[in-house]
Amino acid sequence: NIPSLKDVLAEEFRFGAAVDPRDLADPTGQLLDKHFNQITAENHMKPDALQPTEGTFTFDAADELVAHAEANGMEIYGHTFLWHSQVPDWWFTYPAGHPNAGEPLGNSTEDQQIMLDRLEAHIGAIAAHYGDRVWAWDVVNEVISDNAAEVYRNSRWFQIFEGPEYISHAFRIAREQLDAVGATEVKLFINDYGTDNPAKRDNLYNLVADMRANGVPVDGVGHQTHISLNTPLGNIEASIDKFAGLGVLQAVTELDVAIGAPVEGVEFPEYDARIVQQGHYYRDLFAMLREKDLESVTAWGLHDGRSWLRGFNGTRPLESPLPFDDDLQAKWAYWGIVDPSR
Ligand code: G3I
Repeated sequence: NIPSLKDVLAEEFRFGAAVDPRDLADPTGQLLDKHFNQITAENHMKPDALQPTEGTFTFDAADELVAHAEANGMEIYGHTFLWHSQVPDWWFTYPAGHPNAGEPLGNSTEDQQIMLDRLEAHIGAIAAHYGDRVWAWDVVNEVISDNAAEVYRNSRWFQIFEGPEYISHAFRIAREQLDAVGATEVKLFINDYGTDNPAKRDNLYNLVADMRANGVPVDGVGHQTHISLNTPLGNIEASIDKFAGLGVLQAVTELDVAIGAPVEGVEFPEYDARIVQQGHYYRDLFAMLREKDLESVTAWGLHDGRSWLRGFNGTRPLESPLPFDDDLQAKWAYWGIVDPSR
């Protein structure tokens, strides 16, 4: 009968997990309900999940997650309105009835307007469906480039708009659509990985600072935090501190700590030692996070067997990046969170 992580952290921030409808059944459902008080849909609130064909919205799987969260007193963090991945192909092509129907959009003003109309319809339908039952949304996900000199990710969005203006448009549209259904308190986040990397972080910071200076309604910054045992904690801390200076809300949205495993099947004698080292890493990470002003910290998966790093066909490494193992047992990482004195 080990302590509940959500209770241990209750004074600091909500503790979340990325989940899928298959995680709701026991025994994983019990693990979820005991230790977590927030959920993020791992895949089922992404554009391709919610609007696979233009004008047809499929909320069933997402609704299952929302119903479970509400029945168990959990908050729901929305992920994500706009992304370059897991967005259906139709979004980037001319609509039915257009002379170039099905062909890729170009970058004319007319084409940009098609994109904005689609974004408005997409967010509008989601806002009408969930209102303020989802407390925050990743409005845009991963729009900053990993190449610091490039600044913005060179996505289809960026290409069609010939620049980053689509990001501000997305925040304004999201605010309008949510306000229109009375969901005026729902918070709007920009979410990215690698925010511990100083150069990438500064590019994200400049974007957020500029948007806020120009009245673009961005409320929060989500640090995905897909990290490893080699990620310096000081870089994570410096990033959180820097954004705190802007007065934005902050959350750790997709935490996992990879141990540096080889692909499955390759011998890995260091496994046990790395799992202990991971416990120390989680301890030090959470000691730092507890000192910060965060809305929530979300583990990207309920347990190691459900981590995205595991992949689908056994060719991916046994990264074991989460506080619970494949058998749903608490790891040293769990104890690192619960008992910082260890
Ligand atoms: O559902 C199909 C299944 O039928 C098929 O057999 C299998 C074989 O490829 O694919 C399954 O779909 C997969 C889907 O997850 C649902 O499980 C996709 O291939 C796979 O690409 C997809 O991966 C997701 C990934 O985003 C896609 O980019 C991961 O589950 C999800 O954890 C991951 O999450 C992202 C965040 O949204 C954004 N930040 C990074 C994070 C990790 O990549």
